[in-house]
Amino acid sequence: MKILVTGGLGFIGSHTVVELQNEGLEVVIIDDCSNADEKVLEGIQTITGKRPLFEKIDLRDKSMVESFFARHQDVVGVIHFAASKAVGESVVKPLLYYENNIGTLVYILQALSQKQRASFIFSSSCTVYGQADEMPITEDAPVKAAESPYGNTKQIGEEIIADTCKVTPSLNAIALRYFNPMGAHPSVEIGELPIGVPQNLVPFITQTGMGIREQLAVFGDDYPTEDGTCIRDYIHVVDLAKAHVVALQRLLQAKNEENYEVFNVGTGKGSSVLEVIQSFERVSGEKLNYKIVDRRVGDIVSAYANTKKANQVLGWKAESTLDEAMKSAWDWEKKVRKA
Ligand code: UFG
Repeated sequence: MKILVTGGLGFIGSHTVVELQNEGLEVVIIDDCSNADEKVLEGIQTITGKRPLFEKIDLRDKSMVESFFARHQDVVGVIHFAASKAVGESVVKPLLYYENNIGTLVYILQALSQKQRASFIFSSSCTVYGQADEMPITEDAPVKAAESPYGNTKQIGEEIIADTCKVTPSLNAIALRYFNPMGAHPSVEIGELPIGVPQNLVPFITQTGMGIREQLAVFGDDYPTEDGTCIRDYIHVVDLAKAHVVALQRLLQAKNEENYEVFNVGTGKGSSVLEVIQSFERVSGEKLNYKIVDRRVGDIVSAYANTKKANQVLGWKAESTLDEAMKSAWDWEKKVRKA
């Protein structure tokens, strides 16, 4: 009995592989290494004492997907992380995003639909809510028109899974809507490895703290929030990884009545950009060089999760504080730069 983790060498994927192996599950990773390094396997091995199986496959090649499932008939569940995730790039290269994020999803679901029983977990995003009308955001909040092709791939992806589940009782699926993942494994063996200039706040902060970036630009302080900067729900990547394990166990044990469910995965607590900077300064003891600049196009004001459904149904709750997550991100940054 194996669990396939696509994109398992990536940031959230690698942390999830660690938690799956810690629970004694056997993992096989597929990754095309377009945004990840095979060395991540060593980090996973150091933490868990076990090297997961790994196949370097581009999931856009349908024949490769079919041959993978033919060779690994004991795959009973898939956690599908593999996807492109840069919002700005998706605006410039929409077809690449639809091919990478939608085409590959279809091929995997086709393979799983042929099985007698299969579990599937999809990496979705709070981006599907856009600027929600009420905070904290529940899973019942309406899905709003996507701001980018990337966001659209998450909405369409959820619809494809829902439609497939309706006619495929043997398929059991959960979409996890992530809020803002950050941090690294406390062992500092694995963490986030952004290629080029980071687009996300936390890696930009830690790189600025290390002197790799000169200054953080804070995108706007005139939003209708307490300190004027945007609010997000920052979740420690290890907490997020653990949510995948409990969601998968729910599917494997067929505890669910509906064969397609959606869960928010966040902490339930909103933090402003300035609060995140303060957290960095607290845990690092460094002053961060930043300046306030204009708003970034497409940013929403505020997004944080109502986590009641995940708490009650999955029995899962984020444990780490923002400072703990930030400390792990900073420890990781220091380690990566020393190497
Ligand atoms: N920010 C800055 N300066 C930076 C980077 C970010 O001030 O250099 C601010 C942003 O304006 C925002 C906050 O920090 O207020 C968080 O920004 P991120 O880019 O880290 O995260 P977002 O919430 O904007 O986007 C993330 C993912 C997207 C996903 C979205 C919603 O990166 O892929 O959440 O799920 F679509």
